[in-house]
Amino acid sequence: MTGQGTGLKPGEALGILGGGQLGRMLAIAAAQIGLDVHVYTDEADSPASRVAAKTIVGAYDDEAKLAAFAREARIVTSEFENVPAATADALVAAGAIVRPDPRALAVAQDRFDEKTFLNSMDVPTVPFAAVNSLAELEAALSRIGTPAILKTRRLGYDGLGQARLQSGADAAAAWEKMSGAPAILEGFASFEREVSIIAARGADGSFARYDLCENDHAGGILSSTRLPARASPAVSAAAEKAVRRVMEHFDYVGVLTIEFFLMADGALIANEMAPRVHNSGHWTIEGALTSQFEQHVRAVVGWRLGPAARIADCEMTNLIGEDASRWAEIASDPSAHLHLYGKRSTRAGRKMGHVTRLKFPPT
Ligand SMILES: Nc1ncnc2c1ncn2[C@@H]1O[C@H](COP(=O)(O)OP(=O)(O)O)[C@@H](O)[C@H]1O
Ligand SMILES: [Mg+2]
Repeated sequence: MTGQGTGLKPGEALGILGGGQLGRMLAIAAAQIGLDVHVYTDEADSPASRVAAKTIVGAYDDEAKLAAFAREARIVTSEFENVPAATADALVAAGAIVRPDPRALAVAQDRFDEKTFLNSMDVPTVPFAAVNSLAELEAALSRIGTPAILKTRRLGYDGLGQARLQSGADAAAAWEKMSGAPAILEGFASFEREVSIIAARGADGSFARYDLCENDHAGGILSSTRLPARASPAVSAAAEKAVRRVMEHFDYVGVLTIEFFLMADGALIANEMAPRVHNSGHWTIEGALTSQFEQHVRAVVGWRLGPAARIADCEMTNLIGEDASRWAEIASDPSAHLHLYGKRSTRAGRKMGHVTRLKFPPT
């Protein structure tokens, strides 16, 4: 066992910032190995809090509440990357160990910083430019060309805060959509498919990765993931090299994901990184020897990583919005593993649950 001095023992509390479905699945995995989970969230009655030992509902800038959280949960992790820097600082000041390193969270919060960082690690991305006005957008378009995508630098998710441009004539409408927020223009990747790599690094520097995931998006939201991905061993090796490099740079502890575009010529272009467990890794709950959630918990609490081998071919389908109303039919399908996140209200585009189907033997 690693990190004996700093690691958690069964019965001790792991803190999780954020109360969404990723926090919920992390909490379930932590409970399985005997840890208590304390959730800190600004949302009352969150999906994670309903499976956790304790919840503190507070604002992410409430230093007194954060300190109370850190007094009981010596190690704190996060289910989302948009943790304000001041929140992480307050937890560290109160004596908590925050994993992964807040520097990795900070880079992943800003699409411009993230792509600049990935390029500095020799991980290629699409061409991009920072855009703070319509004039800057027009200048960026003349360099990058169309088609292109304009995105807010911060706080976008599930395809929100994005505008696609087919030609220069779309510039004004696209800039309007940013509502004045700092933005990034990205060249459009005419990819053959999208893939992601999910890997973990332990507190002792050990490394484990899952098989490459192949992802389909609809309207900017992940709709399904299949394993094995249709990609060569060379592509998998390139993805592994990229994720290892990023993790080593931050002396990273926990699970980290990189999303890529796979081009027709086999080139792998990074889209974004997520310093956390990822929707494209939900198949690992049934489809791998250790789920991404247990793996992340093991890493951050200082335990040895588990084996990440895939045991079957997998298809994970997200239940988005009204898809989840089919829960009874899915629950009575013997080939389906149903997961519902316990969200109190259904909205179009909201991730309500997912279904995983396995096929044996694995290819
Ligand atoms: N530069 C791009 N070229 C082609 N497709 C893109 C590009 N950027 C985003 N997309 C498409 O939109 C999806 C969501 O965009 P992404 O940048 O990953 O934002 P989010 O943070 O919302 O996941 C991507 O998975 C991809 O399908
Ligand atoms: Mg994405």
